[in-house]
Amino acid sequence: MKSLRARHISRLLRCFSTTTRYNYKVTVVGGCGGIGQPLSLLLKRNTKVKTLAIYDVARTPGIYTDLSHIDTSVVVEGYQCAENLPAALEKADIVLLVGGAARKPDMTRDDLFKLNVNVVEEVVTTIADKCPKALVGIITNPVNSCVPVAAEILKEKNVFDPKRLFGVTTLDLVRARTFIGEILDMDPGKVSIPVIGGHSGETILPILSQCKPPLKLDKERAIKLIKRIQDAGTEVVKAKCLDGGTSATLSMAHAAYLFTDALLRGLQGDCKPVKCAYVASDVSDCAFFSTPLQLGKNGVEKNLGLPKMNKDEEEMYCKAVEKLKKHIKSGVDYFKNKS
Ligand code: LMR
Repeated sequence: MKSLRARHISRLLRCFSTTTRYNYKVTVVGGCGGIGQPLSLLLKRNTKVKTLAIYDVARTPGIYTDLSHIDTSVVVEGYQCAENLPAALEKADIVLLVGGAARKPDMTRDDLFKLNVNVVEEVVTTIADKCPKALVGIITNPVNSCVPVAAEILKEKNVFDPKRLFGVTTLDLVRARTFIGEILDMDPGKVSIPVIGGHSGETILPILSQCKPPLKLDKERAIKLIKRIQDAGTEVVKAKCLDGGTSATLSMAHAAYLFTDALLRGLQGDCKPVKCAYVASDVSDCAFFSTPLQLGKNGVEKNLGLPKMNKDEEEMYCKAVEKLKKHIKSGVDYFKNKS
């Protein structure tokens, strides 16, 4: 039986952990859109979040009111119109950028660059002023080029910290786990596989040789599986083309939530979650590359680098690097040509 003193200490510790656990402000930019709404719903249920701020250019009053009726202790704040973006970002610990246009069936993610880059610029410039220490997750496509643009803006403002800027690629892992779970007839949540590179077509590199449990496929089936993972976004875009034409929203919200929860656990500092994300690094010839990262109080605590690859995967990797370099260059060039 616990002594009175031990019980007192454990009560104190519980109190202490309560105050440290509920302290984070998460801002979802684009919170009223197809991804933003389910993502905000999931975050409203996360006990590590103290304040959930949703920002959007329209529909905020309705979505805010709806969310705020959910009986959890997360406090919801709603902000609408560009003039309120600074208040939405003020003191944010994590900012998730999910706004922008979505792909139609005849488009590549690259085609979205000219439509979405202004959103990225506006939001990241305000982040630099209002919450330069926030961990920033970019979901707005094309992630491969938007993250380099964001980095350039933060560099210009002298607040770039490569540990705090992420392109969220978790959906590629979610899809890889799902499709592998189907093949192995097992719970997809128990599949572990690194998916590295970027977030579009051939830059998405599922490293099947490192799958746990091991996946034994002949070359033809392995190629088919890799292609399905790489083209899964397009599979959703095609399937949704009759519903007004949009891309993945629910699976993307789920994936972004998993990543945000890992960031929050890292911020808490009582564990060091590992997630793949697209960050500035020197692990490859690309200035940005997604690899497994150990997350901590300041974002990336340790980049775990490239996983082991077999010969076929190395070939795939070389092709991906060449493509990714072009995507990164178009982001950097856009910024340089503007200034
Ligand atoms: C996805 O992977 O589903 C997203 O990047 C959206 C898209 O356009 O494919």
